[in-house]
Amino acid sequence: MNIFAIISSLFLVALIGGASAGNVQASATSNAVALKWKEIPDAEKYHVLLSDDQNQVVDRNETQFGTLLPNTLYQVIISAADVNGTIMANIAPLEYQFRTVAAPVSNLQVMDVTESSIQLTWDMDNETDSYEVMVKNETDSVISASVTLGEHSASISGLQGMQFYKIYVTPVGSSGLGDTAMIRTRTDGSGIKLNGVWQGSQGVFGGSATIFRPISIPTGPYAMKIHLPCPVLAVKFWNAKLDKKNSVPSDATYVLRQSKLWQRRKAEIGMNFYFTQENETTTCTISGEDINVEFGVSMEAARTTSTNTAVPVIINEWLDTTEILVGSGGMVSILVSEIYNDTNADMTKPTNGTWNAKPDYGTYVIAVDSGAGCTGGLLFADVWGMTRKSSEGMPGALPSTAYFVQDEMQWPSNEMGFLYGYNPEVCEDRSGITAQIMVGGPFVDAVFAAEDA
Ligand SMILES: *[C@@H]1O[C@H](CO)[C@@H](O)[C@H](O)[C@H]1NC(C)=O
Ligand SMILES: *[C@@H]1O[C@H](CO)[C@@H](O)[C@H](O)[C@H]1NC(C)=O
Ligand SMILES: *[C@@H]1O[C@H](CO)[C@@H](O)[C@H](O)[C@H]1NC(C)=O
Ligand SMILES: *[C@@H]1O[C@H](CO)[C@@H](O)[C@H](O)[C@H]1NC(C)=O
Ligand SMILES: *[C@@H]1O[C@H](CO)[C@@H](O)[C@H](O)[C@H]1NC(C)=O
Ligand SMILES: *[C@@H]1O[C@H](CO)[C@@H](O)[C@H](O)[C@H]1NC(C)=O
Ligand SMILES: *[C@@H]1O[C@H](CO)[C@@H](O)[C@H](O)[C@H]1NC(C)=O
Repeated sequence: MNIFAIISSLFLVALIGGASAGNVQASATSNAVALKWKEIPDAEKYHVLLSDDQNQVVDRNETQFGTLLPNTLYQVIISAADVNGTIMANIAPLEYQFRTVAAPVSNLQVMDVTESSIQLTWDMDNETDSYEVMVKNETDSVISASVTLGEHSASISGLQGMQFYKIYVTPVGSSGLGDTAMIRTRTDGSGIKLNGVWQGSQGVFGGSATIFRPISIPTGPYAMKIHLPCPVLAVKFWNAKLDKKNSVPSDATYVLRQSKLWQRRKAEIGMNFYFTQENETTTCTISGEDINVEFGVSMEAARTTSTNTAVPVIINEWLDTTEILVGSGGMVSILVSEIYNDTNADMTKPTNGTWNAKPDYGTYVIAVDSGAGCTGGLLFADVWGMTRKSSEGMPGALPSTAYFVQDEMQWPSNEMGFLYGYNPEVCEDRSGITAQIMVGGPFVDAVFAAEDA
């Protein structure tokens, strides 16, 4: 036995029992730690060993480690080292233990909102006894809302409508508070809030407002009508399209439509408007209260029947020469461009001017019938430019008919079609394949209602 080793370990015991703990500070999150320690006299560098797992040689009396596990006890040994990083065996190391905290909750999500409450849930975590929930408003002030905790959920009430909140969820476990997860969300409600009015250049003033639409909206394009207290020079909107046909700028009335899926997912619509000083001071005052908004306005008659338009198709069929049925099939090209072609449109644009001629997303179903000689229907091998929808539960859906929609990302395309196969016993003759576009009506609504559900 080496006499030096005995002295060293005695010294170590003394250090652990006494000064060492106070000489090291650890500040741990769920996956990282920042360590600081009192300088060890004569040390040029420090060798830092973390639970026999990670080690570092550092010049300064502080360092950090990442990639740690949550809720785990770690041991750290800090040894004085010489300029070359070699541990100075004659100097007792500092030893310390710390525990990482619980990981932030995962899958934090909003389950429901009302005008005064928000319901959240997150994934169950076995190591957490309870949770702390804190609510801040848009300007980061902690507000006193009423929080009811479930096992892995919270219901926050006493909130104001049309307000954004930041909600912080922190696990509380045996090792104290864990890391915090945050979600920003808003309460339900609808209306308009004026964000501000500013002075622009050359006598033109500007203002901005946010229109808050109800969070859940029915299927199909959603419309709203804005009435400003006086005509303005110009308006600009975000997350909705201005319906020029139904807007009357001279009367300061604007109809907006959310006709695309991505727009319908945005419950806040941005609005900028520009006016001259003359109009602001002499004609009217623009304030939030003076802007009238009507939500869910219907600009068209209710759809009771659908309009069906036959679309030209080209059928190419091939038969496997070896007459193995698997190789028999064909291709159908649906020539939508022949009926939806805006001849006034700028054909140099990437959508080739066909965009405007098409009905809004949510109103348009493509029905492909396999014809009298193919009552069993076709087997679809590949579909492009459109997406097949299940006709299960659709009122009046025919077995020989397949139903498609053009999804939003397919919208600019006028090239659609499919490859098919067939069972000759129930599909002897494929020459009767037809396609039609169905616009409006209960069947079309049912297809999109099923889609949105
Ligand atoms: C490093 O050591 C010096 C001298 O003891 C001390 O003043 C300083 O606070 C220490 N740094 C840290 C991060 O502990
Ligand atoms: C550090 O390494 C250099 C080069 O190997 C050597 O000359 C020097 O003596 C070493 N210093 C110490 C303190 O061990
Ligand atoms: C939580 O506990 C359940 C039941 O004991 C177990 O099946 C599950 O794997 C645990 N989950 C985690 C993340 O430890
Ligand atoms: C947030 O709360 C603070 C304190 O109650 C309040 O002064 C502030 O106006 C609030 N901010 C918003 C955006 O409501
Ligand atoms: C501003 O108000 C005047 C009447 O006071 C009106 O003639 C003019 O058209 C208004 N300008 C705009 C841009 O609405
Ligand atoms: C649209 O119609 C015009 C005029 O009939 C024709 O020249 C053009 O090729 C058509 N566009 C498409 C995409 O079919
Ligand atoms: C537009 O037309 C050109 C020329 O006919 C064609 O090459 C291009 O693919 C078309 N673009 C779209 C988006 O349909």
